[in-house]
Amino acid sequence: MLLLGISAYYHDSAACLLREGRIVAAAQEERFTRKKHDARFPANAVAYCLREGGVTLRDVARVIFYDKPLIKFERLLETYLAFAPAGFRSFLAAMPVWMKEKLFLKSLLRKELSALGGVAPSELPPLMFTEHHQAHAASAFYPSPFDHAAILCLDGVGEWATTTAWLGERNDLTPLWEIDFPHSLGLLYSAFTYYTGFKVNSGEYKVMGLAPYGEPRYVDRILDHLVDLKADGTFRLNMKYFNYATGLTMTNGLFHDLMGAPPRHPESPLTQRDMDLARSVQNVTEEIVLRLARTLHKELGAEFLCLAGGVALNCVANGRVLREGPYRDIWIQPAAGDAGGALGAALAEWHLYEGKPRRPDRSDSMRGSYLGPHFSDPEVRAALDRMGAVSGQLDDGALFPLLAELLDAGNVIGWFQGRMEFGPRALGARSILGDPRNTKMQSVMNLKIKHR
Ligand SMILES: [Fe+2]
Repeated sequence: MLLLGISAYYHDSAACLLREGRIVAAAQEERFTRKKHDARFPANAVAYCLREGGVTLRDVARVIFYDKPLIKFERLLETYLAFAPAGFRSFLAAMPVWMKEKLFLKSLLRKELSALGGVAPSELPPLMFTEHHQAHAASAFYPSPFDHAAILCLDGVGEWATTTAWLGERNDLTPLWEIDFPHSLGLLYSAFTYYTGFKVNSGEYKVMGLAPYGEPRYVDRILDHLVDLKADGTFRLNMKYFNYATGLTMTNGLFHDLMGAPPRHPESPLTQRDMDLARSVQNVTEEIVLRLARTLHKELGAEFLCLAGGVALNCVANGRVLREGPYRDIWIQPAAGDAGGALGAALAEWHLYEGKPRRPDRSDSMRGSYLGPHFSDPEVRAALDRMGAVSGQLDDGALFPLLAELLDAGNVIGWFQGRMEFGPRALGARSILGDPRNTKMQSVMNLKIKHR
C-alpha cells in the first residue's frame, strides 16, 4: 500500500511517500523551487516522491494532508470574536485567502493533484486529514527506535494546539494534554525574533545563534510580565503585550515600552542589547522545555522522549533536555517543523487508521534523513557540462587530500553527495565547507555565498 503525505499552504510545504509503512522518499518544496519556506502546493516534491517510488498517483491508496483547515478557520473566527473589535484589519487581511483557498482546501488539493498526475478528479485516491499536532507526534514517535515513549510537540500553532503531550506505545498514539493558542512557546520565540529584527518563521535560528553572545538580563522581565510560567512548565502569555492574535505584527507598544525600545530595524547593526534579548528568550525557552519534559516524565515514567514541532529545532534546548532531563535517551524528528507534517500525516494513517503494527527500527528508519533526490555521476557530469564548468573526476583516495589542501588554503567548498536531506539542517549531503580555524572564513562565506 502506498500513502502520500502532504503539508502545504502555511509554511514549509513538503511531500512524503510511504510503501507498506516504510519511507520511500520525503522532500521539501523549497528545495525544488529555490524559494525559502515555499508554502505553495508541493507539486515538485510530490512529483519527485512518485518518481522515486516508480509509481503514479493512480497507484497511491490515500493522500493525507497534515492538518484540518476547518478547525483552523474556527480558531481564526473565535480569536477575532474574542478580541473584537480589535483585529478587524488583520481579520480582513486574512479573509480573502481563506475564502479563495483554505476553506475549499479539499477541492483545491484535488485540483492540484489531478493537474499534476494527469488523473481525472474522480480517479484520485481518497483524501484524508490528520490533526496538525497528531502529524507532529506521529513524525516524532513512529520513526524513533522506541517501543514506548513520551512525546512532546512544541510549535507556533496548528489548529488550536501549540503544545501537546502524548504517549506512544507500539502503533498507538494517545493524546494526554495540550496548551492552546494564543499561549504558544513558538510564538513567544517568534515575537522575540520579530523584536530583534529578524524574519518570523525563518530567523529563529539566528536568535538562537546570538544567544551565547548575550547575558540573560531580560529573563526576570519576561517571567514577571510576559509569561506566567508554572512549576510544571505549563504557561500562559499575557496577551496585553502581543499583537499576533489580532494584528499584523508580533509585539505591540506595551511590549516595546516594557523592553525599553522599539523593535530593531532589520539589517541595522546588532548591539549587545539584541544579544541579551536573544539570550533571555533562549533561557526562558530552555526552562519551559525542560520543565515540560520533567512533568511528562513524572506522569508517564517513560524512559524515552520524542520531540517534534518547530520549537524542537532549537538544538540548544534539546541538548539541555538530553543532558539535564530525566530521560535515558531522546529522539528528535529531523524535519521537526511543518515539513515533517507530511511524513507524520502518512505515518499516522498507516499506524493509527490502517492499524498496521509497528516494529521500531533500531537501525534508523529515517536512514539519516537522506530521503530526497540523488544524482548519478553521468547526471552530475551532464549538469556541469551544461553550465560550462571546469570539472574532473577523482576517486576518494585523491579527493580527500585535495579537499583538505583547498580548505587549508582558505577556499570554500560546495559539498554534494548522495540523497538530499529531509529537514532544515545540513547533514553532510548538501553543505558549504570552510576552515573553522580561518578567522576570515565567516565573513568570506557571509559575503560571497549568503550575500549578507
Ligand atoms: Fe507545526
